[in-house]
Amino acid sequence: MPPERYAKIAGWGKYVPERVLTNADLEKMVDTSDEWITQRTGIKERHLRTEKDTNSSMAVAASIPAIEMAGLTAKDLDLIIVATSSPDYLLPPVSSQIQHMLGAECGAFQLGAGCSGWVYALTTADQFIKAGGYNNILVVGVEIISFALDYTDRTTCVLFGDAAAAVVLTATDQPSGVLAFELGSDGSGAEALIVPAAGSTKPIDFEGIENRENFIRMDGQTVFKFATRAVAGSLKRVVSQAGLLPDDIALFIPHQANARIIEAGAKLLRQPLDKFYVNVHKYGNTSAASVPLAMVEAIEEGRLKPGDKVAMVAFGAGLTWAAVVVQMGEGEISPAHTLFSAGRAAYLAKKAQNRVLDGVQAALLPLYTWRHKSRKRRK
Ligand code: ACO
Repeated sequence: MPPERYAKIAGWGKYVPERVLTNADLEKMVDTSDEWITQRTGIKERHLRTEKDTNSSMAVAASIPAIEMAGLTAKDLDLIIVATSSPDYLLPPVSSQIQHMLGAECGAFQLGAGCSGWVYALTTADQFIKAGGYNNILVVGVEIISFALDYTDRTTCVLFGDAAAAVVLTATDQPSGVLAFELGSDGSGAEALIVPAAGSTKPIDFEGIENRENFIRMDGQTVFKFATRAVAGSLKRVVSQAGLLPDDIALFIPHQANARIIEAGAKLLRQPLDKFYVNVHKYGNTSAASVPLAMVEAIEEGRLKPGDKVAMVAFGAGLTWAAVVVQMGEGEISPAHTLFSAGRAAYLAKKAQNRVLDGVQAALLPLYTWRHKSRKRRK
């Protein structure tokens, strides 16, 4: 029997544009407040593309380190899959621009499944490798979602940001990579998250522009209810399909759309919130880039080690959802990376700072109690 084939995550990279749009900036643009955005979404700031950034340039910037880390050159790639809803042009597919810019000589295609796109793409790449067709596949999640945002609509413009992240999957006989997956779609919810004009049904015209139909429209509450069900339900099913229990999962990496959706997911799964990776406060919802960006940052912060089982879940326009359980392979994360990366240093520094603050608070508690009691006595 031929040896079993697996697809391990052999390299990763990310690109986040320099420009930061804070909640305070948005307060000057629409009728909103830092307090509302923070309480209802957990978002504090998001990054937006600058003039130099295009969907393809951001994808390439995230892909180069991923390819190098995998010990490959672009010429070694057998396939490129790009998950996005905001390509440079309606035609050609941005995947071919990315292939050309990288200097790769392989097939490339663009995959659209809203914010679930990258998890769909990862699963697709895994199947190509397991079937024996290809050995090295670049899987990109990239989004300049800000181009479709109406910055007069406070219900959507505060939520999203731009980013790119990529991984390289390579064939191995060591158990690793995708252990189980679930891909879902419910088109009855199409209207809940839609750009009404600019597609073939309603090509963009003056009327469409006047009615602002070339921007994202979202029924936030419908998407919220769908998302909380999708996160907990698909994670539960995919973990069980992998023959595991939620307790066996080292880290859950959910789509970063809203901190409240993540909290609800953790509660429904009866898992501690600190097992759910969160960076929505820094980037907002970066759509198809959200889950890979979170995965890359979790690795950079040393939250994952070889052998760890990670469950990732995304949901979005369609409506779609997708969940995977991935096992990090041996040698995937080098000790040097885990121990000395800048992200790890920042994570440890924050942890230490929190410990010091907790310690100071604990030390001051008797003093506060004494002051409180003596004030009460004086009254
Ligand atoms: N600032 C201040 N007030 C606001 C804002 C804002 N930015 N946005 C909405 N409000 C107001 C509303 O107008 C409403 O006011 P009203 O009561 O006077 O009518 C009030 O706040 C409450 O609005 P809700 O929509 O009920 O607020 P909710 O708690 O549902 O939060 C939110 C809205 C954050 C959009 C939430 O529904 C959500 O996160 N939904 C899921 C969105 C999501 O995940 N989308 C991405 C899918 S992924 C993809 O593929 C792109």
